[in-house]
Amino acid sequence: MNQDLWTAVDAFVGDALIPEDDALTAAVRSSDAAGLPSIQVSPAQGKFLHLLAKIRGAKTILEIGTLGGYSTIWLARALPAGGRLVTLEADPKHAEIARANIARAGLAGVVDVRLGKGLDLLPAIEAEGVGPFDLVFIDADKPSTPAYFQWALKLSRPGTLIIADNVVRKGALADPASTDPNVVAMRRLHAMVSSEPRVSATTIQTVGSKGYDGFTLAVVNG
Ligand SMILES: C[S@@+](CC[C@H](N)C(=O)[O-])C[C@H]1O[C@@H](n2cnc3c(N)ncnc32)[C@H](O)[C@@H]1O
Repeated sequence: MNQDLWTAVDAFVGDALIPEDDALTAAVRSSDAAGLPSIQVSPAQGKFLHLLAKIRGAKTILEIGTLGGYSTIWLARALPAGGRLVTLEADPKHAEIARANIARAGLAGVVDVRLGKGLDLLPAIEAEGVGPFDLVFIDADKPSTPAYFQWALKLSRPGTLIIADNVVRKGALADPASTDPNVVAMRRLHAMVSSEPRVSATTIQTVGSKGYDGFTLAVVNG
């Protein structure tokens, strides 16, 4: 483990490939100032999500877990004109800060921030017919990740990309004896995905300024 080195490389990548951006910088600053936890994706990860949405040609995106809207802004910026992003956040203060950050980024007309627990809000999203979504980013309460994955499938169509964050958990994912509910959930997610014929998936380990973790990426088969 070499956190200093990972952070230095992320800084190098940021300087080289991710130009300073007023709206994203302001989003992080205002989230920090409001006392939100600094658990948003890193700039390199945010841009990676943005590129995935672009590669997918996503016109509709669902995000579960908004925080201050940092990943939301990255994802929403990948949408074409007329695109739409719905993001779900359980904490009223987080949702309020996110709405302000998203408006400052000029994305208020594109992003719908919904306040409530993801599992409470998702049935209404299905009933309203807001989906299907081309990309779903799961990044909320980690024990619910398997349930969110089931919802993502329900709200998908062939080609939908489903991304679940923080699945590797410093390597604890590989520990069958772990009783940590976050780890147990991510192991369950893998069991679920492996027996799900509708998707093709992998998990990628990541290191960087946010430590050692990883994400699962699943594509809904055509
Ligand atoms: C890791 S943060 C999201 C970070 C954000 N995606 C980013 O990278 O900028 C997780 C967020 O999920 C929210 N959350 C926790 N439980 C939730 C739930 N049951 N439903 C929806 N959001 C929830 C937390 O309040 C927090 O803001």
